[in-house]
Order: sequence, then structure tokens, then C-alpha cells
Amino acid sequence: MIQEQINQYSLEIDEFSPANAAELEEFRIRFLGTKGIIKDLFEQFKTVTPEEKRVLGKVLNEFKQQAEAKHAEFKEAFDAESQTAKTEGDLTLPGEGYSVGSRHPLSLVRNEIIDIFKRLGFVVAEGPEIEDDWHNFSALNFPEEHPARDMQDTFFIKKNTGKDDIALRTHTSSVQVRMMENGKPPFRAIMPGRVYRNEAISARAHCFFHQVEGLYIDENVSFADLKQTLYHFVQELYGEGTKVRFRPSYFPFTEPSAEMDISCTICKGAGCNMCKHTGWVEILGCGMVDPNVLENCGIDSKKFTGFAFGMGIERIANLKWVIRDLRLFSENDVRFLRQFKSEII
Ligand code: DAH
Repeated sequence: MIQEQINQYSLEIDEFSPANAAELEEFRIRFLGTKGIIKDLFEQFKTVTPEEKRVLGKVLNEFKQQAEAKHAEFKEAFDAESQTAKTEGDLTLPGEGYSVGSRHPLSLVRNEIIDIFKRLGFVVAEGPEIEDDWHNFSALNFPEEHPARDMQDTFFIKKNTGKDDIALRTHTSSVQVRMMENGKPPFRAIMPGRVYRNEAISARAHCFFHQVEGLYIDENVSFADLKQTLYHFVQELYGEGTKVRFRPSYFPFTEPSAEMDISCTICKGAGCNMCKHTGWVEILGCGMVDPNVLENCGIDSKKFTGFAFGMGIERIANLKWVIRDLRLFSENDVRFLRQFKSEII
């Protein structure tokens, strides 16, 4: 008897699909109410034999769950509907907030650097991150046994005899070579991009970072042009009055070579942790393009001279915002990223 009733009601519940909240409430009272069908079935259940109880108990419980699930399913939908119905048309309610993304701090700094050089007539050039030995090393005058070619520094993709090696570029200087090979001087370009070094990741080092390379080739370009260009760049980036100094250095692809320091942007030269209490911080490497490099790229080094420079974008950002851990730049933690709001979206 009970089993037959359950079978019939179960089919009915399966097909039940209320059009509104009132119909659903009717359903609830009929099946789940205190004087409802389920209550009645449980009453009848008390009167059956113990053998029947064993089988029916489970069936009855499942039937109850079926009715409850059906009710819950539609209740949720109708509740949400009535909530919107209540608020619909009320123009005094505040709008739903949505968050706008912001530019990554490294993109902000890169764009600022690009803007400054664009105003000086530089164009932006890019090159591949997977490079051959020629563009990353040989054309740039790196001797065969130069330590920068070492496995410790470079991620090799294919390592053969040297000449056919394929690697992740270790610097953006490779883009200089591509530009000179594929065009005719004069050149005035900056090349932003990601570079890779085989370094253990820590707060102070990472296996990838970002650089901006600069190249200026024309007739009669001198070290004075290099100094003036970079001096102007620093005044624009860090403000009027920022001091610069050049220290002699060595890069295979420039002669003479230098490293440029600026007066510490954090303590303004008074001495702090950032500048190790010297008042100066290094921001880039530079120099006059070595005649060998010009010749390697098919440029007449008797007629043309030029300068080049390269800087790390993370370093420039660090001197702006004092970011103590390099890893923050690549972890995509929104709590870090949302602190860098830009006027330019
Ligand atoms: N390629 C150098 C580096 O990764 C940076 C650099 C120094 C680039 C001097 C230049 C330059 O163009 O002239 O450390």
C-alpha cells in the first residue's frame, strides 16, 4: 500500500515545476507540511510488520529527500527573483562596484622610459627571446672563452660547438645586432624586453628580468652625445637636480665602456641602505659601440660611430618605490600590484 503511494507521488514530484512562489508553497504544505503526505506516510509506516519496515524505511526516507530537494531547488531561484524584484527600479541604490585592473609596475616604468626616449626621437624595436650565439654573443664581440657564455649564466636550449648554440637571450643587446644587420644607419632606437640568466631565485636575483637597451648610430657621434642623452633621461625620470657620474667599466661590445651612477633617489645623496651609505647608485651600463661590432653588422666603422646603453627595469623601479624583494614582480599578488595606480590606463 505505502509503496504504491510512494511510487505515484514520486512521479508527480519528478514532473513538478512551479511557475511561481505560491505554487511552490502549495507543494511544500501538501508534501512536507505538518499535516502533509509525508507525515501521513510515516504514520502508516508505524503499523506495518517488522520485515516490511526494513525495506520501506529506506524507500520512505529517500522519498522524503526527493521532496525536500525539489523544494530547495525552486526556493533558491524564487528567493533570488523576489530580491531583484524588490530592488528593481530603485534608482537611489548604489551601483554594483567592479574593480578596474592596473598596469604592472614594470610596465609603468618601461612606458615611462619609452616616453622619455620617444621625445628625443628614438623608436622602439623588439627582438626574439630565443637567440642564437651570433646575436647574443659573437657579433657583440664576446671572446669564445668569455664567462658570460658559461653554462652557469646562460640557459642553453641547444649547446653544440659554440657557433650553433641556441639560448634564451641573456641581454637585450642582441636586438642591437638585429637592428644594425637589417637596416642602414642612422639608428636611434630603444629595445625593451625580457632577458634570462641561470641564477637561483632569491630576493636579490631572478632567472628572468627586464632590460631596456639603447642604440644611437650616426656620423660624428661622440661620448659627449652619450653623456648628454643619459643626463637628460635621468632628469626626466627622477627629477631636475639628480646628479650623474660615469665610472670606467668593461663590456665586450663597447669601447670605451662606463657605468653610470646617479645620486641616490631615496636619500638624495645623504646616505641610506639603498646606496650602501655612499650617496650613489648604479643604474646602467653604456659606452661607444666597438668598431668590431659595427663591422660584424655590416656597418662602415670609419664613417659611423655610436653609443649604446642598457639598464634593468626592475632596478629603475626599485629606485622609485624601494621594493625589497625582486620576486614580488613575478608573483602576481594583487595586494602588491594594486598599489601601483597609473594615470594612464
Ligand atoms: N648588456 C649589458 C648587460 O646585460 C648592459 C649593457 C651595457 C648594454 C653597456 C649596453 C651597453 O648596450 O653599452 O649587463
